[in-house]
Amino acid sequence: MLQKKVHILTYGCQMNVSDSEKIGSVLRGVGYEPSATIDDADMVILNTCSVRSKAEEKIYGILFTMKGRLKRKPNLLIGVGGCVAQQEGERLLQKVPHLNFVFGTHTLHLLPQMVRDAEAGRRVTETGFIDDDHRLDLFPQSGEVAGVTRLVTIMQGCDNFCSYCIVPYVRGREVSRRPGDILEEIRRAADSGCREVTLLGQNVNSYGLQDGAAADFASLLRGVANIDGIQRIRFMTSHPKDISTPLIDCFADLEKLCSHIHLPVQSGSDRILAMMNRGYNRADYLLMVKKLRSVRPDILFTSDIIVGFPGETEEDFQQSLSLLQEVRYSDSYSFVYSPRPETKAALLPDKTGNEEKVERFNRLLALQKKLTIEVQSPMVGKRLEVLVEGAGKKEGQMYGRTSGNRVVNFSAEAGLAGTLQQPLIVRNFQNSLLGELR
Ligand code: SAH
Ligand code: SF4
Ligand code: F3S
Repeated sequence: MLQKKVHILTYGCQMNVSDSEKIGSVLRGVGYEPSATIDDADMVILNTCSVRSKAEEKIYGILFTMKGRLKRKPNLLIGVGGCVAQQEGERLLQKVPHLNFVFGTHTLHLLPQMVRDAEAGRRVTETGFIDDDHRLDLFPQSGEVAGVTRLVTIMQGCDNFCSYCIVPYVRGREVSRRPGDILEEIRRAADSGCREVTLLGQNVNSYGLQDGAAADFASLLRGVANIDGIQRIRFMTSHPKDISTPLIDCFADLEKLCSHIHLPVQSGSDRILAMMNRGYNRADYLLMVKKLRSVRPDILFTSDIIVGFPGETEEDFQQSLSLLQEVRYSDSYSFVYSPRPETKAALLPDKTGNEEKVERFNRLLALQKKLTIEVQSPMVGKRLEVLVEGAGKKEGQMYGRTSGNRVVNFSAEAGLAGTLQQPLIVRNFQNSLLGELR
């Protein structure tokens, strides 16, 4: 029998990247080999994001273009999963007549039956919330996803309900995986060549707290650090309100823990932070930054910032700019506020016009560019340790990341993947650094 092929398109955050790996693994079990190109695919899966309206609209655009593809290949099956699917459910099938199936963020394990139904011509939706922790372990890692670095989901869902955010509605309540299962997955990954793990969750600091599990996040980190073969540990995302003293201690004494933390601040204004329901103020946040820097002086911070939250004044925005400068982020990801269904902020009056929001956004971007260059410039002329991950930007180059998560490209043999190297940094390109191995 000819092997069938599935092409998986992934949008949104690292959770979706990780879920796509699991989708690939589940579909392999029903005869579909993941394919890098869409042209030879028998099935296309869109793993979607609905965090901002643009992300959602994009999916409808892509589904529309699939119509042409279907004319050339009438048997092509199309499935939509992820956060838009969770949000829309059955409605998606009604809106898009050429769609075959819709699965949510909690139903990846139901895919085999759904695919069989779709192959038999039935259109199906499965977007229920199945909230027991066992569903998180339905995907034993079988070494299908080889690689030097690996994403490991440690928890799913979010209980924070930031007023602008749709994630708690589309990912459900926080559920942590059992520590033993996580450590076992990482041990196996290390055996198959993985050297760096990124522990994933919407809010990793509250790992284990919901169900009084045996381990909290700091003990989990210590467990991972004990695994032979794993040389580096990263995690994301951390919520500033839940940074604990035991976690700060990890930065003090766990060598494998990388010198980087993504600590989204969202806004520098106390008034806006309160309206966002973030649970900390500017001073709390800056204190966290100070504490982390005191135990790990070379730690680099990155952040997410929302521009134009309802009611944000120029003064509030100035507070975000000044916070950026105070923290001196190595990078930040900024977004113009987008009202989302079901969220509290969507009901707030918003008088600021889009043009002004975009103008603020551009000012923030320009400041971050300048900061990234400034943060990186002292690296030029130094040797920095990088873990070599794969082919670099140009022919003959490899790339790796520093402990602080800055990308370095340098001329090197492909055989170096998976090793630690100390390139001399020779240029600062803002988005990346250029290094030399000599
Ligand atoms: N759990 C993570 C991030 C989840 S979403 C955290 O708490 O930080 C990723 C980023 O998208 C958020 O940090 C936020 O900056 C942005 N975001 C979320 N909802 C948004 C909205 N409605 N409009 C604009 N940006 C949004
Ligand atoms: Fe959204 Fe807030 Fe949860 Fe992050 S912590 S996923 S921003 S609700
Ligand atoms: Fe998007 Fe869902 Fe992640 S909304 S940001 S893919 S959790």
